[in-house]
Amino acid sequence: MADDRRKLPPSLTVGEVAERAGVAVSALHFYEREGLIQSWRSSGNQRRYPRGVLRRVALIKTAQRLGLPLGRIAEALSNLPADRPPTSADWRRLSASWREDLDARIASMQALRDQLDSCIGCGCLSLDSCPLRNPEDQLGKSGAGARLLP
Ligand code: FES
Repeated sequence: MADDRRKLPPSLTVGEVAERAGVAVSALHFYEREGLIQSWRSSGNQRRYPRGVLRRVALIKTAQRLGLPLGRIAEALSNLPADRPPTSADWRRLSASWREDLDARIASMQALRDQLDSCIGCGCLSLDSCPLRNPEDQLGKSGAGARLLP
């Protein structure tokens, strides 16, 4: 790993970032449009990235694997210094803040799993009686007519 770092130039093309990070060029463009990573333009008007972008992309991919929404990832990354790659201390801070989200999602998934027991899985998805489609008639409390589930 340290050898790789020594071989890296101070700035990388989008193709080099894609290859080293194992993501598609289109994904990098998307991350950039969403403000998760930044580049500058070379004299030939080509994108250049600081090599620290590799750690940032690794962090984004890991957060996505955890199922975190992009907005939450962007919010976390906006709190990192832009002039250096994220450190292990940064990662510990971010992962601590995401733990609460993960715990809430795990609890929600466990509740859904438990509701499977009362849904007979008949495919009716009834607003009146299916505990998955309309748990505890939540939709009925918000008024008559069709309601969207969260
Ligand atoms: S799908 Fe019929 S009760 Fe859930």
